[in-house]
Amino acid sequence: MVTNSVAKELSTELKQKIESRTARVGVIGMGYVGLPLALLFSGEKFNVTGFDIDPTKVEKLTAGTSYIVRIPSEGIQGARQQGFTATANYSQISDMDAIIICVPTPLDEYREPDLSYITKTAESIAPHLRAGQLVVLESTTYPGTTEEVLVPLLEKFNRVGLKAARNGQVDHGVFYVAFSPEREDPGRTDIERHDIPKVVGGLDQRASELASALYGSIFRRTVPVSTPAAAEMTKLLENIYRCVNIAMVNELKLLCLRMGIDIWEVIDAAKTKPFGFHAFYPGPGLGGHCIPVDPYYLSWKAKEFDFQTKFIELAGQVNTDMPYHVVTSVAKALNGHKKAMNGSKVLVLGVAYKKDIDDLRESPALTILELLQREGAEVSYNDPYFPFVGRGRHYDLQMKSTPLDNLGEFDCVVIVTDHSDYDFPRIVADAKLVVDSRNATRGIKASNVLHC
Ligand SMILES: NC(=O)c1ccc[n+]([C@@H]2O[C@H](COP(=O)([O-])OP(=O)(O)OC[C@H]3O[C@@H](n4cnc5c(N)ncnc54)[C@H](O)[C@@H]3O)[C@@H](O)[C@H]2O)c1
Repeated sequence: MVTNSVAKELSTELKQKIESRTARVGVIGMGYVGLPLALLFSGEKFNVTGFDIDPTKVEKLTAGTSYIVRIPSEGIQGARQQGFTATANYSQISDMDAIIICVPTPLDEYREPDLSYITKTAESIAPHLRAGQLVVLESTTYPGTTEEVLVPLLEKFNRVGLKAARNGQVDHGVFYVAFSPEREDPGRTDIERHDIPKVVGGLDQRASELASALYGSIFRRTVPVSTPAAAEMTKLLENIYRCVNIAMVNELKLLCLRMGIDIWEVIDAAKTKPFGFHAFYPGPGLGGHCIPVDPYYLSWKAKEFDFQTKFIELAGQVNTDMPYHVVTSVAKALNGHKKAMNGSKVLVLGVAYKKDIDDLRESPALTILELLQREGAEVSYNDPYFPFVGRGRHYDLQMKSTPLDNLGEFDCVVIVTDHSDYDFPRIVADAKLVVDSRNATRGIKASNVLHC
């Protein structure tokens, strides 16, 4: 049994190590969230170790090479000089003072939470836990995951019977646990990551203080909340807010198209209101690891409380229908040119789920490509970020990006992702027919463009 004073000394020691930048930070999952986080800590002179089960990522990081477009290799090389290393070897967990988990939280085939990455991580790190360490979960998930899933596994599988510190009762608690959601918006350049306040919810007061101290060294502001569940729910509120508002504006776009009103003009006018309105934009459907996925984590959990999350379900329905709307619009546009979809050559511009990023996860372009193929179209795509699209969790396309030098050979060009690299006036000039789901051709007067 660990006495109160021992636990206090351990937490004081960890806090001092954080403040003096001598704490060793382990980040688990070197993906879109974990790698930039590791680099932020490294930039603040912490000694950082990145853990990943993907040997290619470990090799590339060890060689000082980036695999994420917006992270230059020089950033990794700079971190390497600062002591940053990458490994798949979990025994190094015992050398860490703070361990931050950034592994995926997708949906399974029944659109239910797939926590297997979190549970596998917990089972892998637990045997190497030692007293006084701080473990923080950053993966987006339903309220209760940290306390009901992560902590029991860490307690069950550690070799020396360590317990998580709870409710200030530290007599048998010797490691600290918190949840802190990642809030970045990939591709966004108008706000630095360290300027996004970091929400932190510890399992007990001391865990909150330690997590706040840790994140306070790289973020300008931390926002402590009372429990991990409150922090988990905060992230879901933010993403459900986006999901529902995007669905609303998507639905209004469909109505505006029918009424002959330009929804984009309407949004621009509405957003001049200095209060009470935040602009959301319609598009070809939701994409990315977050907005199409996270709300379902909550609707699944809500069932345990005999509660139906109606807004989430409705927003899901509207947003899921958007790729189908794009394909119907392509058929309509071709019809206007006396052409059938079956046998037409269709080029999809942009497969990333949003502009200027190299992320394909849950992209509506994948559904659009498959639906077009199903209708018998001869489909090609172009994306400067994806020279090849092979197999993913829900698709198997095996297609190569087509160069844009012969647009006139396609019966229709569909703008799905409005990457800044695209020269839209030229595309409209060269293509026979353009279907624009992003308003990328705004301001271009041409009879061959159909907005959808
Ligand atoms: N990408 C975003 O913009 C974003 C924003 C906010 C929150 N999130 C959340 O952050 C979490 C991570 O997302 P991401 O986009 O970084 O995912 P990602 O797929 O880019 O990266 C996850 C990494 O974890 C690794 N991994 C999986 N299991 C592992 C294990 N057992 N041990 C070690 N490494 C393991 C994978 O190999 C991969 O490199 C998710 O919960 C996501 O919802 C993501």
